[in-house]
Amino acid sequence: MDHNIAKIRHDYNLKGLLESDLEPNPLNQFRLWFGEALSAGVTEPNAMTLSTLFNGRPSARIVLLKDLDSEGFTFFTNYNSKKGREIASEPQVALTFFWKEFERQVRIEGKAEKTSDQESSEYFAVRPRGSQIGAWTSYQSEVIENRAFLENRTKEVEQEFSGREVPRPPHWGGYRVIPDYIEFWQGRPSRLHDRLSYVRSEDGSWLIERLSP
Ligand SMILES: Cc1cc2nc3c(=O)[nH]c(=O)nc-3n(C[C@H](O)[C@H](O)[C@H](O)COP(=O)(O)O)c2cc1C
Repeated sequence: MDHNIAKIRHDYNLKGLLESDLEPNPLNQFRLWFGEALSAGVTEPNAMTLSTLFNGRPSARIVLLKDLDSEGFTFFTNYNSKKGREIASEPQVALTFFWKEFERQVRIEGKAEKTSDQESSEYFAVRPRGSQIGAWTSYQSEVIENRAFLENRTKEVEQEFSGREVPRPPHWGGYRVIPDYIEFWQGRPSRLHDRLSYVRSEDGSWLIERLSP
């Protein structure tokens, strides 16, 4: 056993989460927690782990939440990437947030749907030019020879779009994860954490249940 790792121990004691604290709608509850993380200056509070599944094999990576509306959680990516291909075959995904400064975790499960072309283009248009060029440069998740390949490709793309707006590549856009399960976890002392879950019913209402830590 690696004792340096084994002895890392943190007792959570900042806050609690009670049923009476909860918003009836989990998206509003999320907004509340997200707002607190944002106001407190947490670095990239919108960073979330996206888990996908392909042929029984899970895979996870971090993406950035870019929008939250009454439907769900939106992020942007390359539709031809590994995650894009996996979502095409299995749209059921999971999102996980960890705001360590608040000793909080949020787990979301749901179906990922592509955002409309208009929505994707609107967001693409407000990205920095360097990121717009990058979206054309990168064949995300493909094996490439070396760093030079990427840099040469960037120069080519820059030249191609020199003096004009960079259009959105057809393979780049958003996914909105429509949640059917959201769980809020608040760390508590002695591992007696608070876990409150929302399960969406057929009629769209949310059932709130407390889970054992
Ligand atoms: C903080 C952070 C934010 C990221 N945000 C995004 C993002 O919004 N969209 C994206 O496609 N990749 C993002 N990435 C890169 C992904 O983690 C991943 O490397 C990439 O999307 C390729 O994943 P895939 O091969 O599973 O498709 C981010 C990485 C980090 C560390």
